[in-house]
Amino acid sequence: MIARFFPFLLTVGTVLGNPHGHTPACKYIPGDAGWPSPKTWSRLNSTIEGRLIATVPIAHVCHDRGAFAAYNETACADLAIALQEDGAATLQPQPGEIMNPYFYNITCSPFTSVDTPCELGNRAVYSINVSGPADVQAGLKFARKNNIRLVVKNTGLDYMGKSSGKGSLSLWMHNLKTLELKKHYRSPWHKGAAMKVGAGNIAGEVYEYIATKGYRIVGPECGLCGFAGGYTQGVGHSQLTSAYGFAADQVLEWEVVTPAGQYVIATPEKHADLYWALAGGGPGTYGVVLSVTVKAYPDGPVAGGTLIFNNTDADAYWEAVGIWYAQGPSMVKDSPKNVQFFVSNASLWVFAFVMPDMDDSAIHEILAPFLPELDARNLPYTLETHNYTGYVENLNNSYGALPYGELCPVYPALGSRMIPRAVVLNETANKNLMDVYRKYTAGGDWFVGCSFLDTVEGGDVRPEHPPNAVHPAWRESIAYCNPNNPWKWETPEVSIADKEELSGEFFPAMEAATPGAGVYLNEIDSLYTGPWKDTMYGINYDHLLSIKHKYDPYNLMYGLFAVGSDEYTIDEDGRLCWVGY
Ligand SMILES: *[C@@H]1O[C@H](CO)[C@@H](O)[C@H](O)[C@H]1NC(C)=O
Ligand SMILES: *[C@@H]1O[C@H](CO)[C@@H](O)[C@H](O)[C@H]1NC(C)=O
Ligand SMILES: *[C@@H]1O[C@H](CO)[C@@H](O)[C@H](O)[C@H]1NC(C)=O
Ligand SMILES: *[C@@H]1O[C@H](CO)[C@@H](O)[C@H](O)[C@H]1NC(C)=O
Ligand SMILES: *[C@@H]1O[C@H](CO)[C@@H](O)[C@H](O)[C@H]1NC(C)=O
Ligand SMILES: *[C@@H]1O[C@H](CO)[C@@H](O)[C@H](O)[C@H]1NC(C)=O
Ligand SMILES: *[C@@H]1O[C@H](CO)[C@@H](O)[C@H](O)[C@H]1NC(C)=O
Ligand SMILES: *[C@@H]1O[C@H](CO)[C@@H](O)[C@H](O)[C@H]1NC(C)=O
Ligand SMILES: *[C@@H]1O[C@H](CO)[C@@H](O)[C@H](O)[C@H]1NC(C)=O
Repeated sequence: MIARFFPFLLTVGTVLGNPHGHTPACKYIPGDAGWPSPKTWSRLNSTIEGRLIATVPIAHVCHDRGAFAAYNETACADLAIALQEDGAATLQPQPGEIMNPYFYNITCSPFTSVDTPCELGNRAVYSINVSGPADVQAGLKFARKNNIRLVVKNTGLDYMGKSSGKGSLSLWMHNLKTLELKKHYRSPWHKGAAMKVGAGNIAGEVYEYIATKGYRIVGPECGLCGFAGGYTQGVGHSQLTSAYGFAADQVLEWEVVTPAGQYVIATPEKHADLYWALAGGGPGTYGVVLSVTVKAYPDGPVAGGTLIFNNTDADAYWEAVGIWYAQGPSMVKDSPKNVQFFVSNASLWVFAFVMPDMDDSAIHEILAPFLPELDARNLPYTLETHNYTGYVENLNNSYGALPYGELCPVYPALGSRMIPRAVVLNETANKNLMDVYRKYTAGGDWFVGCSFLDTVEGGDVRPEHPPNAVHPAWRESIAYCNPNNPWKWETPEVSIADKEELSGEFFPAMEAATPGAGVYLNEIDSLYTGPWKDTMYGINYDHLLSIKHKYDPYNLMYGLFAVGSDEYTIDEDGRLCWVGY
């Protein structure tokens, strides 16, 4: 904890809250005397060639009160449907909007009454429509000088609401759409193809681009998920993790502006500490990433398919689910294989087998020890297999049409726990985990999405990767599992209760059943109560914190559960306040 020895700490007690003693502890929000005047904002706008956008909530058409009121019954009804049916496509392209309904918080919403005032709530007040490093530098400088909260928004898909914040200035990266395949990339860590991906690209756009080029890359299953932001910076699991490692393991270069305004390319050799922290140490913490360059691999056939069996006899069903988990490690051992499935009270549904460079005999092979267990328990099943010509074809078929995909719940109450090999292979521990699943899925509302993968370091399946900040617990996991409950837009109080049940009971029970494991820092509920420094960052936390302090001495970067976030608090009016080391 290097920070403990910084000499300026002696002044913290007297100059409340800021290590440099120049600005107040809390960032200003509109209405505060210190909030910049229209003229000051206008000056910022001129320095960035008119790229400043004042947020007007998209749901202003649903209200007849408040500063943005513009009620239109038809437009509001259309929006209510659009949010529920294709929320990603509706909200992602909007600069100030928040995709996560918990942080959206029904401030200015089709689901509140017409006479509720339309207010910004947690939305940024202004966004900079970023076109390059100079816009980011201008935003950072303005936020620092004027004591304004800064947020970085690529897609707005963030379970912790990191891309939103009351009274904030948002660096809106949406239009950074670089997609560049470099067939002959050379560096000490990689000789071969690489992809440069802009911060504004969602994964679906990357897949559509690369599908016809003869390459595959490690990316998220969900097309609507951003690529270069929280996903890769927060570890990034993938259907291709068994084959090539985590998304963070693939990074060759980060194009980044540091909070102090320096524009750098961070690689394993240059600005190596920043490179290391950005690769798995969490987004929105160490710098503003404009693009990432990752390894690309030659594409080839991928076998895929589905398997489903139903809960027609509860004891037999849960026994079979337990056996399924116990066989998980051998299904993927020392191989590029991946198996993704949902467990609910109704069924175990494998919606994706991912067998890179194999035909469907690989699926029949891994199921050979399992299917007789279903027969023995009188549990009928349906199995379907396919030989696809490439990776994206398999993904597109299991997750639904790109770019957004259909299978991914846009707004769930969600957690994600790593499942250690030692747990599923131990009969007692396995049974304990199954009992937790059985108990919480019994109501019919919760299901658990899981992915079996092989992540063991060494061996010759996966390429070597540069040192990075991926939580070491990931390398001992056989699966990650996500308890999941879709958001109910029209009854947010029910969804808040779901979140409370998840964070208060279900997830702690999963943690207790999987001792010593970590959580996926990108897919955790915002009400999470576990020991987050340990479960999200593990032994890397202190080193990450020293890098955060080195690169962000001005306290510009904050996100819930981000490294160093306990140095801040949100006051009763929603201001972000620095409370000290
Ligand atoms: C910034 O300037 C542009 C161009 O003059 C203008 O269209 C835009 O409305 C301005 N933004 C704000 C927030 O005033
Ligand atoms: C209200 O919204 C509808 C649908 O978007 C649009 O066609 C109509 O012109 C709007 N009415 C007014 C008065 O703006
Ligand atoms: C949502 O709004 C309520 C008050 O309207 C506030 O108490 C709560 O803290 C807000 N939640 C978030 C996540 O901002
Ligand atoms: C943002 O900037 C891009 C060009 O970089 C432009 O095409 C787009 O219209 C701008 N968006 C908004 C909402 O101003
Ligand atoms: C499982 O249940 C679903 C829904 O009731 C049904 O459509 C399907 O045929 C069942 N599958 C098997 C293998 O029994
Ligand atoms: C997949 O390819 C293998 C090898 O050619 C073949 O035996 C199998 O029948 C094919 N499966 C399907 C579903 O076409
Ligand atoms: C994905 O599937 C849809 C049909 O479901 C198809 O129209 C589209 O071309 C596919 N996209 C890719 C990239 O394979
Ligand atoms: C198996 O798991 C149980 C329950 O967690 C634990 O008490 C026991 O020590 C474990 N056995 C072994 C051999 O690790
Ligand atoms: C859970 O599954 C059992 C079958 O084992 C069934 O009887 C029960 O109705 C299911 N519960 C819900 C809420 O679907």
